[in-house]
Amino acid sequence: MTTTEQTSKDLSAGAGAAGQYLIGGELPVHRMGFGAMRLPAAHWDGPAHDPDRSIAVLRRAVELGVNHIDTASFYFYEDIAANDLIRKALHPYPDDLVIATKVGPGRFPDGSWTDPADPAELRAAVHRNLRELGRDHLDLVYLRFLRTDGPGEDRFATLAALRDEGLIRHLGVSSATPEQFAEAQEIAPVAAVQNRYSPLTREHAELVGLCAARDIAYVPYFPFGGAGAPELTALRRVADRHGATPAQVTLAWLLAVSPTMLTIPGTSSPAHLEENVAAAGLRLDDVDLAELTELTELTEHATPTGRA
Ligand SMILES: NC(=O)c1ccc[n+]([C@@H]2O[C@H](COP(=O)([O-])OP(=O)(O)OC[C@H]3O[C@@H](n4cnc5c(N)ncnc54)[C@H](OP(=O)(O)O)[C@@H]3O)[C@@H](O)[C@H]2O)c1
Repeated sequence: MTTTEQTSKDLSAGAGAAGQYLIGGELPVHRMGFGAMRLPAAHWDGPAHDPDRSIAVLRRAVELGVNHIDTASFYFYEDIAANDLIRKALHPYPDDLVIATKVGPGRFPDGSWTDPADPAELRAAVHRNLRELGRDHLDLVYLRFLRTDGPGEDRFATLAALRDEGLIRHLGVSSATPEQFAEAQEIAPVAAVQNRYSPLTREHAELVGLCAARDIAYVPYFPFGGAGAPELTALRRVADRHGATPAQVTLAWLLAVSPTMLTIPGTSSPAHLEENVAAAGLRLDDVDLAELTELTELTEHATPTGRA
């Protein structure tokens, strides 16, 4: 399901240089996307980012060819919310823009987290996303699990019913165990899995492989490990060989790991946005990939700063 124009390296390329993937076999996105979690603030507890700068970042992302934006109603800090920023920046939306969101836990206005949503709350969360984004349907909705969650059949069935009602186009699971993923697939087609994955955190390698084998999108969160671009010797060495940055090598590595991998690096920085999107044009060779494989030993040691 991928179509990739393989140039050796073109760091001035837009998001389209990463190639295209069809979510659920029919919804095209460029494999280089954008994550909106960092737009309201650097972390859950701030500091806030300038909303005008975040709006400019969103508009520039689309100009650069990004057509897959990942968000959630619970991405907010005080009165700055990712969904509001997306609507202000981009509505009326380009026809090809795919906006993915997630439901499951919620957050109270003071920022504290609610318990996992029950089916009625999930319905309300989907309607809230529709309202906030100003859309009549949602392209991709993930059921987002918490570490303490058990099976999610009744909740995934609720989302499947909303899909049948035409409010959701495709379903996904996020922060899911292989068991929760398998249970969801028994209920309705899972078009995407959004779990953590980066050169530093590869504990979900099995799911990455499963998704590749079944042509399901794998959308890694915390692509940089959750704590800013990693500064590791191997990443720096490969980056220097290509005239690239460690952040760009990280993103190119993710795109090389699996043909169904879609990256959604998050930033509120215009310069980081340009840098990240340019990684769509970076192709790593076998020597690079072998060198980066050695990072496996480090995978247990990442210390993300966001909520996983
Ligand atoms: N499903 C889930 O549970 C879940 C959890 C977390 C995230 N997500 C999604 O996944 C997306 C990606 O995760 P993330 O953004 O939190 O990933 P991340 O790995 O934490 O990367 C973002 C961090 O890296 C910095 N950064 C970005 N580009 C950089 C660059 N080129 N050089 C140096 N630093 C850079 C950002 O700071 P600056 O703003 O200063 O650039 C930010 O601190 C999120 O936006 C969200 O949509 C989902």
